[in-house]
Amino acid sequence: AEAQAGPVSSLGFQALPHGVGTRDAVPEGYEVQVLMRWGDPVLPGAPAFDPANQSAEAQAQQFGYNNDYLDFFPLPPGDATSEHGLLVVNHEYTNPELMFAGFPDARAARRGTSEAQFRVELMAHGASVVEIRRENGRWLPVEGSARNRRITGETEMRISGPAAGHERLRTSQDPDGTRVRGTLNNCAGGNTPWGTVLIAEENFNYYFGGQGVGTGPQAAAWKRYGFVGTPMYSWHRFDPRFDLAREPNEPNRFGWVVEFDPYDPQAVPVKRTALGRFKHEGCTHAVSADGRVVLYMGDDERFDYVYKFVTARPWNREDRAANRDLLDEGTLLVARFHDDGSMEWLPLLHGQGPLTEANGFRSQGDVVIEARRAADLLGATPMDRPEDVEANPVNGRVYVMLTNNGNRREGSTDAVNPRAANAHGHVIEMIPPRGPGGVDHAALTGRWELFLMAGQPGVTPGASYHRGVGGDSGWLSCPDNCAFDSKGRIWISTDGAQAAAKVADGLYAADTAGEGRALTRRFYAAPTGAEVCGPLIGPGDRTVFLAIQHPAEERGSSFDTPSTRWPDFQDGMPPRPAVIAIVKTDGGVIGS
Ligand code: FEO
Ligand code: CA
Ligand code: CA
Ligand code: CA
Repeated sequence: AEAQAGPVSSLGFQALPHGVGTRDAVPEGYEVQVLMRWGDPVLPGAPAFDPANQSAEAQAQQFGYNNDYLDFFPLPPGDATSEHGLLVVNHEYTNPELMFAGFPDARAARRGTSEAQFRVELMAHGASVVEIRRENGRWLPVEGSARNRRITGETEMRISGPAAGHERLRTSQDPDGTRVRGTLNNCAGGNTPWGTVLIAEENFNYYFGGQGVGTGPQAAAWKRYGFVGTPMYSWHRFDPRFDLAREPNEPNRFGWVVEFDPYDPQAVPVKRTALGRFKHEGCTHAVSADGRVVLYMGDDERFDYVYKFVTARPWNREDRAANRDLLDEGTLLVARFHDDGSMEWLPLLHGQGPLTEANGFRSQGDVVIEARRAADLLGATPMDRPEDVEANPVNGRVYVMLTNNGNRREGSTDAVNPRAANAHGHVIEMIPPRGPGGVDHAALTGRWELFLMAGQPGVTPGASYHRGVGGDSGWLSCPDNCAFDSKGRIWISTDGAQAAAKVADGLYAADTAGEGRALTRRFYAAPTGAEVCGPLIGPGDRTVFLAIQHPAEERGSSFDTPSTRWPDFQDGMPPRPAVIAIVKTDGGVIGS
C-alpha cells in the first residue's frame, strides 16, 4: 500500500490507487449517483433516449453531449444551503464515433457523418439548465420542469460590447453583426455575483472549414486562432455559415464568453465581447475590495495567456437589473510574470502602446476580436496551456491550472513555466495585493508562487508537491479545472492523465495552507477514456458534482466496440457522458 498524506493533511479519506478501469471509483464511505446522462429528457415532453433512432428534434429537447462546466443556482435564489436548484451544464463538443453506429474511429466519423447526424451534433452542443433536488439523500432531476432549458448551436443570441456591429462580425444572415445563432465548444465557465452564468467558447476553430483557409485579409488572424489545415468536423459541407470561403466573418462571432440568466428560460444569451476573443477555458469571478467585479480567464493553447477583465463600475447589490450590462464596460488585461515572483497586468486598450491603426487595430472592437495578437504585441507571458483560473475565497489567492505543454523547449523555460517538455503540467498561485477593504483583484501588479509541479515524484523530473518534495500517493497529471470548498481546500480535476501517465483522469483534493499544502489526494477515478470536468462543491459541502466527459474516447473505441459502456453497462447502450453527484454515505461533509 502507498503511504497516505497522514495527519499533516486535513483530508479524512483514503486516497484511491492509480490505474485505469472500465468503471469509476470513489473512496470507501462515498457513493456515486448518476444525475443526468447524454440523451436524458430535459424539456417537458422530451422523448426518452433511443440511441438507434436519434434525431435533431429529440436531441434539442434532451441532455447534450460532453458535459463540461457545472454550476448550481439555488431555489429560492440566494438560499446558499438549499439542496434544490438549477443545475447548469455546458455541452462542449461531440464524439460522432461514440454517438453513432458504423464508424471505425473518430477520424472516419468526423469525415463521414451525414447531414442528419450533423444536425444531431449541433443540437448536442451548448448548455442545459435542469432543476434538481436532493430527497432522502439522493439527488434527482425534477422531471419535465418548466424551468428547464436547452441552449444549442442554433439558439439565437445577442452580441454586445465593443465588437457588436463591427464590420468583421457581419454575415449574410446578420448584416448588422449583432445577432448570432448558437454557441459552440463551451468548455468551463463561471458566474456573476448577480446570479447569471458565464459559459466560455473554447476551440471554436474546430467547426470551420472550406477553401477560404489561409487566404484573404483575415489570414493572419485565422492562423493565430488555428484555422489552418483540415477542421476537426466537416460541418462546412452541410451549412454555409461554417464555410470560411462563403462566410469569412462567421468565425469572428465565436470565441467569446456568453452570459445568460439561468432563472429565466426565455432570457436571450449575450456574447460579451469586452472580455476578448480567444479559446476561453473558463471565466470565474472575484469581487475586488472596491466592489468592481474581476473575471479571470485562461486561453487554453500552448504558449497562450492568462487574462482578467475588470468592470468599470462596482456591481449593484440592491438592484439585480442594474448589473445587466456591467460586463460591457471595463478593461481587459493580460498577465506578464517576472522571474523574481512579481507580476503585472497589461491593459488591452485601443490607442495605447502598440494597439494602434499602424498595427491593424482601428478600434477597441479590433482589439477584442484579435485579443491574442494584441496580447502578443504587449509582451504577455506565454504559458503552458492556461485552463481554469479561479480565486480561493478563503485565502484570496488565484489558482491557475497549467495543464501541460509538450512543445516547451529548454531554451524557452522561465520561472513561471520552469519545465521543458512539460507533459504533466503545473499549478501556480497569483497573489493580488491586499488593501484596507480586502483583496485588490483589480490591481495592476501582484506576486505569484508555484503551487505544485505535476507528475509522479521520483519518476517525473521536477514533480513536486509539498515544500519542494513529494512522495504522496495522490500525485496527479494534467490539472484542468478546480473548485474550492468552504475551508479553502482545492479540488482539482484532470484531463489527459491517461495519455500522459497511464492513469485514469480523476479528482484530487488538497489543503492550500499548513502542513498539508499541495499534498493532493486522489478522490475520484474516471472510467477509461473519460476526462473529469466541472468540479462543483454543492451546498453545505455535502456533495461534489462532476461532469464525466467523453467516456471511452480512445484509440480503437467506437459506438460498436466501446472501451466502456459507463454508466449504464447495457448491451446496445453506448457510453454516455454524464453528470454525477458524489455524496458521503453518512450524509456528512465531503473530504471530512
Ligand atoms: Fe475544453 Fe481547455 O479544455
Ligand atoms: Ca474537454
Ligand atoms: Ca477544460
Ligand atoms: Ca482540457
